[in-house]
Amino acid sequence: MSEAPTIDYDGLIPNNVGLNQDARLRKALETWHPGYIDWWNGAGPAVFQNSPVYLRTAVGVDPEGWAKFGFVRMPEYRWGILLAPAVEGRRIGFGVHQGEAAWQEVPGEYRSSLRRLLVIQGDTEPASVEQQRQLGATAPSLYDLRNLFQVNVEEGRHLWAMVYLLQKYFGRDGREEADDLLRRRSGDADQPRMLGAFNEATPDWLSFFLFTFFTDRDGKMQLAALAQSGFDPLSRTCRFMLTEEAHHMFVGDSGIQRVVQRTCAAMRAAGIEDPEDVARVRALGVIDLPTLQRKMNLHFALTLDLFGSEISTNAANAYSAGLKGRYREDKIEDDHLLRDATYPVLRWRDGVAMREDAPALSALNMRLRDDYVAECEGGIARWNRVIAAAGYGTRLLLPHVGFNRKIGEFAAANLAPDGTVLTAAEWAARRDEFLPSAEDGAYVASLMRPARAAGEYAGWIAPPRVGIDGKPGDYEYVRIEA
Ligand SMILES: [Fe+2]
Ligand SMILES: [Fe+2]
Repeated sequence: MSEAPTIDYDGLIPNNVGLNQDARLRKALETWHPGYIDWWNGAGPAVFQNSPVYLRTAVGVDPEGWAKFGFVRMPEYRWGILLAPAVEGRRIGFGVHQGEAAWQEVPGEYRSSLRRLLVIQGDTEPASVEQQRQLGATAPSLYDLRNLFQVNVEEGRHLWAMVYLLQKYFGRDGREEADDLLRRRSGDADQPRMLGAFNEATPDWLSFFLFTFFTDRDGKMQLAALAQSGFDPLSRTCRFMLTEEAHHMFVGDSGIQRVVQRTCAAMRAAGIEDPEDVARVRALGVIDLPTLQRKMNLHFALTLDLFGSEISTNAANAYSAGLKGRYREDKIEDDHLLRDATYPVLRWRDGVAMREDAPALSALNMRLRDDYVAECEGGIARWNRVIAAAGYGTRLLLPHVGFNRKIGEFAAANLAPDGTVLTAAEWAARRDEFLPSAEDGAYVASLMRPARAAGEYAGWIAPPRVGIDGKPGDYEYVRIEA
């Protein structure tokens, strides 16, 4: 690795991309900036915008010391443009340009596909901030409130990351796309965000933790695939975004773990032997495991749809062109061309789910999704260890990948979470067994009362084992009254 350019932290936009030497780009970004702040103020966190929050800000790209912590009011957060260090002599690792020097400019023939990839990725970043906009009002602790806001400001920075690429490399088209990224709104009837899961509501903190566990992890997979790109500025951008993304998934993973821990402890203390005894569990003011399971079913299925169709020519073209690789492409040992290779794809054939070999090139979405599911399994195993340690036999399970899908092979199937094939009528009749019901939603909503004293936690979630940045349990992460 070569030296990363030092970060210019003095101007309006902190960056390590030499903005000072690029007057045209600086002007474009400075023109975009007020619209971004308007968006943040109008569509970002609905409360506590003026409260100092203990946030990390990226001040470098050295993996060992890239962030500094301090109190900042969110609208004054230093959103910056940061690329991971260039890799000296980096070459394209896959596709028909394999072995050529990585591109520092956009190849003309791939201009529109690349722009499309950036816009789709970019659109998800502000969308999640919009989806999480109301959650600050009901945070279960100042620790969680701070984590929410950390995720939000970093998703904002991820939008900056994509906008930088659009404005630097795509001229007027890029500027228009950057403006449109501020125009669309999650769930809006006329100008929705581009992908389904990013137009869904995130009504409560249980949804937030599941979103960061499942949906931010899709983000990680996509970024990891784009980090392999032959277009070097995209690769470097994504590599740095992945550093931040790890915390988002930690928030979800540990959040659910704390929910499970609290529920199990409360059931034990009350002498409840059967976690399915929902009425008794709910009387304790904690989240029953069947409700958690239904919420998991919902978020998993919504997120799987983000991977697109199992068989996809777009994915094949992006790969062959060297624009988007496989997960950990550089660790895979094969020809990185996939001309003759096959990959087993789960298909829905005459009412039966079956694996069928398909050309590996067209099956890249399927492969990325498989990598994703394997990672999800790891998190769920950790949650199940908490349940087992409390002496309960219940286990949380990922639903079948064909359950409740809207996109791809299983869009027309009616599968139960365990994979049982149902008729449409059977499925509809049993819907509330599979997915959160209105009543589940109302129960979870009833628990969403804020805990705002330093060190205080809502009764449905256990405190974290360790604080952020080594802070003690009663640290005042958000100075609400200020
Ligand atoms: Fe992101
Ligand atoms: Fe994220």
